[in-house]
Amino acid sequence: MALPDSFIQELKARSDIVDVISSYVNLKRTGRNMVGLCPFHGEKTPSFHVNVENAYFHCFGCGAGGDVITFIRRIENLDYMDAVRLLAQRAGMTVPTEGVDDKTARIRARIFEANREAARFFHRMLYSPQGAQALAYLRGRGLKESTIKHFGLGYAPPGRFALVDALREKGFRDNELVTANLAFAGRRGNAVDRFVDRVMFPIIDLRGNVIAFGGRVMGDGKPKYLNTSDTLVFRKSNQLFALNFAKNSGEQRLILVEGYMDVIALHQAGFTNAVATLGTALAVDHARLMARYTKEVIVSYDSDAAGQKAADRAIPMLRDAGLTVRVLAIPGSKDPDEYIRSFGEQGPARFKQLLDATGNDVEYRLQKAKSGCDLTTAEGKIAYLNAAVSVLATLDSRMEQEIYAGRLSEEVGIQKSAVMQQVDKLLRKRMRSAQTRQVREIQQSVSAQRDSVNPQRAAHLRAAHAEEALIAYVINNPDMAKNIGEQMPPEGMVTDFNRRVYQLVMGRIQEGRPVDLMDLSQEFSMEEMGRITQILSSAPPTGDTWESAQEYIRVIRLEKETLTAADIPSAGVEDINKYLETLKELKK
Ligand code: GTP
Ligand code: MN
Repeated sequence: MALPDSFIQELKARSDIVDVISSYVNLKRTGRNMVGLCPFHGEKTPSFHVNVENAYFHCFGCGAGGDVITFIRRIENLDYMDAVRLLAQRAGMTVPTEGVDDKTARIRARIFEANREAARFFHRMLYSPQGAQALAYLRGRGLKESTIKHFGLGYAPPGRFALVDALREKGFRDNELVTANLAFAGRRGNAVDRFVDRVMFPIIDLRGNVIAFGGRVMGDGKPKYLNTSDTLVFRKSNQLFALNFAKNSGEQRLILVEGYMDVIALHQAGFTNAVATLGTALAVDHARLMARYTKEVIVSYDSDAAGQKAADRAIPMLRDAGLTVRVLAIPGSKDPDEYIRSFGEQGPARFKQLLDATGNDVEYRLQKAKSGCDLTTAEGKIAYLNAAVSVLATLDSRMEQEIYAGRLSEEVGIQKSAVMQQVDKLLRKRMRSAQTRQVREIQQSVSAQRDSVNPQRAAHLRAAHAEEALIAYVINNPDMAKNIGEQMPPEGMVTDFNRRVYQLVMGRIQEGRPVDLMDLSQEFSMEEMGRITQILSSAPPTGDTWESAQEYIRVIRLEKETLTAADIPSAGVEDINKYLETLKELKK
């Protein structure tokens, strides 16, 4: 659905790109641009630029880029219309001709409604005679009435059509229930309950929508937890249980635990900043999501081997997202829920003690480096030092390295300078291998044939460069467009993608309409928008001259000619051979 220009212009005027992006990214001014850490890939030095004047962003690290709508699409994981809607809502505007042909949006809305009704139904069932056992189960696990209500816990009754019947009565169709993953399709295509005789945990997103469920068996059945599979409104790799509450906890940090019950027990104990992944290991998206709300995460995974292994995987991911990580190890073979409960009334206070004693992850990693090393022997000391030095080499700050090196030197009885020497040696080695890797990556990207945005680019690099520079020139100098257009019609372009961009830009200028990225983002995908902002960002900051534009046109023409010429001989090989034969004949 094409939105009217006037609406887009108004939306643009009211959605200042710096304002919008600043609520997700900490931006700092450098010259005419703003820069920050890219929210779309993990990085430690900022390569995410916001071009204030032209209202677009571009990351030189991962290539993401576009206008303010593209930004919202990417960061909120929305389609174009939903991103427009979100921005419109923020700006206090109404989207014209809402929902005319927005089928996906309609289906999504139905899934939200079905989930909400399902949550109501499950909660009601918990307090029905059928739910008595489930209610006793939850109470038996130490949950207060207010906690059960707060989390909207429920019960999915036995039978195969309990929820299906209830929702049919509310006007939901079988296929809608299947699409919401509340039911599966039976043999005759009819909906059959997916959650049967389970305690239900609704999962709620940041806007208060019920997007999924986790269901736990009360006995020893398998699987212990059954979760909603990914749907149109739910992707488990970028959702966290209870983030909707935790983000308002007023705490500076988040506590990351493994299970639903851990989260609920912690919230009940007053630690309302606890979150958990949803029956899946921590993914990069989870880490980035947390980084939007906090600077520090306390990892408190189960103390069994599986939990520790999961923590070892999670910690570097969290660090890479720019988070400070602390680790809360729970004494004894327990998870946070069991730990708190085992102390009864004292549970919350005991957990608070653990929390206050949390070391940062450096200390945790050093502790781990030490475990298994016998410091009374020389070999043990060396093994410990080697492991510890490689921990120190991962630290960003020299000061931190010095502090821990000092502690190590006292602990092992060796000079601090010797420790630092080892750290530096390792750093140099890592730098060398990073450089080699970088060179290799550059080589690979140059030779990469799979440029999905402009697949012809690699084969026609010279032409593509000139085309891109010319596009930037025209956008920056719309008054010259007519003249340029006469010299270089869109058909003259070598690569298809650049031709499409050029054609659209020229068309808009000729119609006297403004060209800005906001217009283009209706026509191009997010990846394509990234390429367009790259084209703009690569143009010289002061703009190109008319002479350089002439040079670009010359290059494109030349390349186009060679291309056309190169096509002819292949068609006329026989003719050429014949001609050569004739020449030979003549020579004889
Ligand atoms: P309780 O036994 O109820 O205390 O749960 P827990 O949270 O201690 O469970 P556990 O440590 O076994 O699992 C942690 C989290 O992993 C759970 O909250 C679920 O999200 C997930 N999980 C556990 N079992 C399963 C399973 O069988 N399938 C799936 N998909 N996820 C599971
Ligand atoms: Mn547990």
